[in-house]
Amino acid sequence: MLTPDPIQQGKTYILTGAGISAESGIDTFRSAGGLWQRYALADVCTPEAFAHSPQTVWKFHSLLKAASDNAAPNAGHVAIASWFAQCASTRQRTVLVTQNIDTLHERSLAAAGISGESCTAMHGRISVSCCSSCNKRWNDPYLYFDSNCGTSTEMCRNLWFEHDLDSLPELKVSSGDSLPVSPCCGTLLRPDVVWFGEEPHHLSHCFREISGTDVFIAIGTSGTVAPASDFAKWVRRLNKNARCVFVNPDADCRPEHYCEFLRGKASDVVPVLLGNV
Ligand code: OAD
Repeated sequence: MLTPDPIQQGKTYILTGAGISAESGIDTFRSAGGLWQRYALADVCTPEAFAHSPQTVWKFHSLLKAASDNAAPNAGHVAIASWFAQCASTRQRTVLVTQNIDTLHERSLAAAGISGESCTAMHGRISVSCCSSCNKRWNDPYLYFDSNCGTSTEMCRNLWFEHDLDSLPELKVSSGDSLPVSPCCGTLLRPDVVWFGEEPHHLSHCFREISGTDVFIAIGTSGTVAPASDFAKWVRRLNKNARCVFVNPDADCRPEHYCEFLRGKASDVVPVLLGNV
């Protein structure tokens, strides 16, 4: 890896994807052996799949939830959190948007004394479930299914939970299929994550913050899933001099609109890039 010029001044916008959590032991989607080689996306991550077989969808999301709970932030997450703390003290503008649902950014921000809410989770968080009738969102620590797809009463211990949400008061599942039931309406809960065909969360914030961006850094994303894949294009349209940096170990992954490609793992590159070694 070439030694990158450290980020010095101006507004920084950081976008992350599954690759930043790879070194924490969380599977990516599109790398060799990734999730979409082992699962049919249409069976586990669409509203249609949930309508057809909520149990299949909940079993898949229970695996993601357990993996997220068992993982810890790595040097990439920690460097970003330190960068946020530093920017907060110097009033430098900085934005963090993630496509990840694992809450590892939120945990590392909280450990650095920054609100976990500073991370915009555009695909939702695995720690939150939502009533399928009234859309009320609940912090949800329960796993429901174990790694063998058997029913589970285990609770997550490490996930980050949203401060302004109520937590589910108790584990409540339907008797026939052991699926979670909402306390508000008594109907099915669903994971509060964004599935294919659904609009990402906080989209207006994600686009609004592009304005005024001087440095855009995409870390650990294949750059294939819209709308995040378009952010760099809009950064350059609004500021043709913006520095757009792409961090990824895969030399064949070269999306448009970036002027700097830093080949390497997030935990190696990001601390150097953010001057945090
Ligand atoms: P992908 O799985 O598409 O891409 C992950 C990228 O991370 C790949 O380009 C890898 O080369 C790279 N990578 C692997 N290890 C890395 C490391 N140690 N450091 C840095 N990069 C590494 O994941 P996303 O781009 O996040 O959406 O995928 C976007 C969305 O597609 C996900 O949020 C999910 C998925 O389907 C939904 O489920 C709605």
